[in-house]
Amino acid sequence: MVSELLPIRGLHLESNTTRRDLLKRAGLLGAASLLPSISLGGRHHHHHDRLSRRNVLRIAHFTDPHISPEGPSAKWLAKALEHANSLPQRPNMILFGGDMVLDGTSVSKSRMAAQWKTFHDTVRDHNSLPVNYCIGNHDVWGWFSRDADSLDRQYGKQWVQDGLSLNKPYYSMDRNGWHIVVLDSIHRHKGGYVGKLDEEQIAWLDADLAAHASMPTLVTSHIPLMSACAGLVTPRSETDGSHWHVSGAHMHIDGRRIKDVFVRHSNVNLCISGHVHLLEGLQYNGIGYASSGSVSGNWWKGNFQETPPGYALVDLFEDGSWHHDYVTYGWSA
Ligand SMILES: [Fe+2]
Repeated sequence: MVSELLPIRGLHLESNTTRRDLLKRAGLLGAASLLPSISLGGRHHHHHDRLSRRNVLRIAHFTDPHISPEGPSAKWLAKALEHANSLPQRPNMILFGGDMVLDGTSVSKSRMAAQWKTFHDTVRDHNSLPVNYCIGNHDVWGWFSRDADSLDRQYGKQWVQDGLSLNKPYYSMDRNGWHIVVLDSIHRHKGGYVGKLDEEQIAWLDADLAAHASMPTLVTSHIPLMSACAGLVTPRSETDGSHWHVSGAHMHIDGRRIKDVFVRHSNVNLCISGHVHLLEGLQYNGIGYASSGSVSGNWWKGNFQETPPGYALVDLFEDGSWHHDYVTYGWSA
């Protein structure tokens, strides 16, 4: 019996009709152009349950805006922020999912400074909601640049940490009864990077989840912890004809180890990520894993594969259930 196999924290894939009902409740119809896409929710499967449970936290997950001084990026981030700020049910927080700037890894100091200035100016001028940040690979300064001095105090992650007032590149917080863990996926590896937590961070994650065992928990990372679409990011993944080759830069190379940490802690309900610019939801061991597309789409040239530019609205409920919706904000060429 399939129904008996559904875990209590099971992911629920809804039809568009149900999703439209939900969005009508949220007052979104008309304000947002909705996608014929999946809507994800956890734990409660019945419509009336969703309507009666208490929505204690709404997070607008803005991932991968890739802002630069030239081009349309600042204009469209402004539009997306204004869209989120004007929702009838205002989000409690904008959570930037990483890759806030176009690219810091291969550029000079002055180029990095110009990108961050444009990003911060845009957020300051077009957003009045509280903001939190997760670090992306493109937010790191100088790793792959001949113009960056590795002895500079701001080299690597120090620049982004300073700019965002982060003592450490990973952290956690409590908001309205939910615990929110923000991981740092970006691990330097063989002339590039992979998604990975170092020993210190994974020990911290284990201890942090144990210390908040009574709270429903959302985990966010830039690179997906668990993903099927990670294999679809490049057309090269399956070209040997017999195996999928999913890059550790597209899905955490230590995803199995992180899964094992989550098995030890029953409080993790949902993991959200960016980086691959694709909209996806899956479920494993009763935990939802959602990839929230991207604000920039194909870096502002339109859709990335089938996913248009947008952001995710993540509704978190008092009973630990959740809902993840992808919303477009009016991007056009
Ligand atoms: Fe990225």
